[in-house]
Amino acid sequence: MSSAAVWHEVECGGYTADLAVWEALADPVDGPVLELGCGTGRVGLHLARRGCEVWAVDADPSLLEALAARAAAERLAVHATCADIRALELDREFGLIVAPMQLLQMLGGGAGRRAALDRAAAHLAPAGRVAAGIVEPAAASLDGPAAALPDLRERDGWVYSSLPVAVGSTGGGVEIRRLRQSVSPDGSLSQEVHTDRLDPLDANALEAEAASAGLRPAGRLEVAPADGYLGSVVVILEGP
Ligand SMILES: C[S@@+](CC[C@H](N)C(=O)[O-])C[C@H]1O[C@@H](n2cnc3c(N)ncnc32)[C@H](O)[C@@H]1O
Repeated sequence: MSSAAVWHEVECGGYTADLAVWEALADPVDGPVLELGCGTGRVGLHLARRGCEVWAVDADPSLLEALAARAAAERLAVHATCADIRALELDREFGLIVAPMQLLQMLGGGAGRRAALDRAAAHLAPAGRVAAGIVEPAAASLDGPAAALPDLRERDGWVYSSLPVAVGSTGGGVEIRRLRQSVSPDGSLSQEVHTDRLDPLDANALEAEAASAGLRPAGRLEVAPADGYLGSVVVILEGP
């Protein structure tokens, strides 16, 4: 497993607070569901275990490799594709397209986000919906994450730990700093501070931007803060 996949697993793999939202959206869908920015498959594999036909897209081939290995180990059929979602071309339509964990705030700002919304709209089946999780800058607070325990994983004798040490609003967006530590099998410690930055976005702005892709607001669902993760809003959009 690549270093990117290991840290992805450490920092995202244990997050479960949003799964009930994706289940509730996917369960009634008759036909395939598309996950944008699927990573190593936290959400996609969860939905596939519930019987959903899942298509999963990510730009990082090493994360998709880890997803494919997990799907094969569980004999789950997940169609994994390596692509940039801002230029997505899959020759099929979906009743539900999900973008969990702030993906729309990781696309280089408004232009990237609008391109991704256009491509999502182009892949919607009639009456299909797009659902995207976002962290609104107003929800970014030090309290929960700073009080959190580190996320831990052991792999091949190495122990990996990631602790959120600072979260805050910056330049209108959200900055999350984590202390990443790894201990090798012979006991030596390496560490670094890793920073993720999320583009500024709130639910009102996303709904307004989505209009240019022909998508209309169709509700919002809240995901409460939990275990060191910020709370988020899942914005639901429907096609024409
Ligand atoms: C925060 S992770 C979320 C992973 C997974 N959906 C989950 O909820 O656990 C965001 C993912 O989006 C992927 N990603 C970021 N920009 C992308 C792009 N332009 N096209 C496709 N994938 C992208 C990253 O590689 C990463 O795996």
